[in-house]
Amino acid sequence: MANYLVEDTRKVTTHRCIEMKQQGKKIAMLTAYDYTMARIIDRAGIDIILVGDSASNVMAGNFTTLPITVDQMIYHAKSVVRAVNRALVVCDMPFGSYQVSATEAVTNAIRIMKETHCDALKLEGGEEIIDAVKRILAAGIPVCGHLGLTPQSINKFGTYAVRAREQAEADKLVADALLLQEAGCFAIVLEKIPAVLCARVCSQLSIPVIGIGGGPADGQVLVGQDMLGINDGFKPKFLRHYANLAETIADAVSQYVSDVKSGDFPNANECY
Ligand code: KIV
Repeated sequence: MANYLVEDTRKVTTHRCIEMKQQGKKIAMLTAYDYTMARIIDRAGIDIILVGDSASNVMAGNFTTLPITVDQMIYHAKSVVRAVNRALVVCDMPFGSYQVSATEAVTNAIRIMKETHCDALKLEGGEEIIDAVKRILAAGIPVCGHLGLTPQSINKFGTYAVRAREQAEADKLVADALLLQEAGCFAIVLEKIPAVLCARVCSQLSIPVIGIGGGPADGQVLVGQDMLGINDGFKPKFLRHYANLAETIADAVSQYVSDVKSGDFPNANECY
């Protein structure tokens, strides 16, 4: 077993996530898309690793999350699962894999679970996709909901501004959250909504609410590359940088370039 930076090294399960809410313990969640990063953040004590469809932006350089495919999500999730002992691994169902019909949704969900060995799936949306959510849950697959600024709907929204400031959208969000809980979801991600609305949902639900740009909640999620300062051009209000790895990496690479060019690397101790 790897050396962990947390005392409780038991595997995190969906059941334990709900227990954590009941016990008032906060849930820390980050994205990862590859083996090396997943191994580091699992050892550092992260509770949930999200293999987010943000891999489309972060890993592939796409402008939105829409282009990523089921095959590509499976590749990323398999790489992450191989590295993880403790964290719960949740994989995003990509755009187009669950919206057409509940039957297609459950077929794709089963494929992702079988091929990746991840622990749970995340889907964006409420009432519009509830049949798909119910079919996936009926197959025994844990589901995490995702409401608010759901990036797969960015073309419908037409803006990355805060969602649900208007009463009607806020009321629908609360109704959707209750619907997802009633269907059997084990958690819900709320993205970029007013903090008062997030607090209202947290108090009405018995399952954990994980916020990103929603203020205090039962847990928080960030994109790993964003909080580590690797994606240094992105600085929304809700993001806290815990490192400036873009600068650290650039400094290291520039030193390496200079050492190679000057002949300083490799030295006598670095040769066979
Ligand atoms: O794909 C992702 O990174 C996400 C988070 C923003 C919650 O869904």
